Amino acid sequence: MALAHSKLAADLPNLRIRLEEPRDIPQLQALVHAAFGRAEEARLLDRLRAEEALLLSHVALLGDELVGQAAYSLVHVDDGERLCRFPALAPIAVSPARQRQGIGSALVWAGLATMRAAGFGLLFLVGHRSYYPRFGFVPALPLGFGSDYVQPGGAHEHFMVAVLDDEILGSARGHVRFHNAFAEV
Ligand SMILES: CC(C)(COP(=O)(O)OP(=O)(O)OC[C@H]1O[C@@H](n2cnc3c(N)ncnc32)[C@H](O)[C@@H]1OP(=O)(O)O)[C@@H](O)C(=O)NCCC(=O)NCCS
Repeated sequence: MALAHSKLAADLPNLRIRLEEPRDIPQLQALVHAAFGRAEEARLLDRLRAEEALLLSHVALLGDELVGQAAYSLVHVDDGERLCRFPALAPIAVSPARQRQGIGSALVWAGLATMRAAGFGLLFLVGHRSYYPRFGFVPALPLGFGSDYVQPGGAHEHFMVAVLDDEILGSARGHVRFHNAFAEV
């Protein structure tokens, strides 16, 4: 997969991104656990896999070494009259020893390109408010989207969306429901 959008891709000539394969799973479980320093996100991925709710899982490799993963599932956007489905990015993890080398960025750019090519107009996430704006993610609340991750009157900037097709904004808004498995994280 082309990594042209990653500003650091030139420094990582051996970096490849491909789809997750079953043989990757034990290593990915360890990687995700190590990156987050706890087991919840690895368990979340197990449940999404078990329920066939993983829309896409990209893995990053440096040579033969698995160094990162970005997972995507579908969210339902409910405007009270109809439901629309869009992808959401979560979780994303890079091996602790390989962080801050551009691998996370390469994964995010690859996900954005894949979702755009698949025809999705929006990509949601809940994450660090200072990391994702560099990829074009903006707070979702001011665009008319709500989430269980945002309390009325509370901070909302961690609930973000990348607008891949501006025309979608005219028609999609409402409450964004993540897969039930996210409630356990
Ligand atoms: C977040 C994560 C995926 C980023 O991957 P990465 O390969 O380290 O990121 P990159 O090298 O592409 O980008 C590095 C930049 O991200 C920033 N960054 C890394 N982790 C960050 C965090 N938790 N919050 C805010 N910024 C972060 C760094 O400060 C750096 O910024 P700079 O370029 O301005 O110096 C990785 O740090 C990770 O696995 N963290 C632990 C798990 C996690 O928190 N996942 C995300 C949940 S939203």
